[in-house]
Amino acid sequence: MILVAGGTGRLGTLVVRQLSEAGLRVRVLTRDPRRAEHLNAAHVEVVTGDVRDRRSLASAFAGVDTVVSAVQGFAGKGGVSPSSIDRDGNINLIEAARDAGADMVLVSVIGAAANSPMELFRMKYAAEQRLKGSGVPFTIVRASAFLELWIELMQDTAKRSGRPLVFGRGNNPINFVSVIDVAALVSRVVADPAKRGLSLEIGGPDNLSFNELANLVQRSAGRSKAPRHVPRPMLRAAAETVGRFKPAVGRQVRAALVMDSSDFTFDRNAVEEAYADLPRTSAESLLGQDQARAPAAGSP
Ligand SMILES: NC(=O)c1ccc[n+]([C@@H]2O[C@H](COP(=O)([O-])OP(=O)(O)OC[C@H]3O[C@@H](n4cnc5c(N)ncnc54)[C@H](OP(=O)(O)O)[C@@H]3O)[C@@H](O)[C@H]2O)c1
Repeated sequence: MILVAGGTGRLGTLVVRQLSEAGLRVRVLTRDPRRAEHLNAAHVEVVTGDVRDRRSLASAFAGVDTVVSAVQGFAGKGGVSPSSIDRDGNINLIEAARDAGADMVLVSVIGAAANSPMELFRMKYAAEQRLKGSGVPFTIVRASAFLELWIELMQDTAKRSGRPLVFGRGNNPINFVSVIDVAALVSRVVADPAKRGLSLEIGGPDNLSFNELANLVQRSAGRSKAPRHVPRPMLRAAAETVGRFKPAVGRQVRAALVMDSSDFTFDRNAVEEAYADLPRTSAESLLGQDQARAPAAGSP
């Protein structure tokens, strides 16, 4: 039995479907079973629990061989935070996995480090360290920023004005990866004991600036207007003001400032050496622009 914590989420949904289609028995942990209704067709078990509440995890782990953690507390409902979910919630899952004699596949972030300027990255690192010292057979899958999330954000912010919103200057190259590629890797490592004890990093085929991504989103919608920008001083001010009483907004604004200025590029060669058959999903292909970019027949 594979337990997927975060199985109702963007990445988790794909992982659950792939594991279930591969013939594995899958159980999804959620705080609210209604959020798992879209998984009905995948014939999965659904169990109610909260990673912040260790006791609520006991029944979820009955008969579990491997737990996948695809939970996140960076944003979302229920007063979540990186410290309560990405660190402490994962530590609860690690301890439950140890007690149940299960393996663990932890989804983390490329750049997770004790001294990262991003709280989320520090909390993911703390969970990684705890897992490595726990005695639980583990694989860590670190991913770059999810393409689908950022594309949706740009599509949403362009709805009224016809111009997507970019936080900061938007010219810093960032590696974006599709959840399709990450789910394929997570599903493979679940069933691959040879990868226990390893951390694998997966990014997408392209490093794109937010301005470049915004232009692709515009082109796919048949628009040509340049994106709107939230200037960096305004982001800093928002972190100090709104961020004080709305911690999730503060986190997002501070993350935007870091993503606008730090190195977020990635080269995915190593993961392709580990798994040569992984999908390689580009922003253009997600936006249905393969044709637009393909050279015309007969061109040099
Ligand atoms: N988004 C990115 O750009 C990105 C980049 C790299 C890595 N990652 C990592 O990839 C993983 C999946 O991210 P995602 O964007 O697909 O997530 P998502 O769609 O936001 O889903 C979050 C999941 O976390 C679960 N969750 C949150 N709090 C919980 C709690 N207290 N107890 C139990 N479950 C809880 C939610 O379950 P319920 O709501 O059903 O309870 C939901 O299934 C995460 O580990 C994330 O950190 C994300």
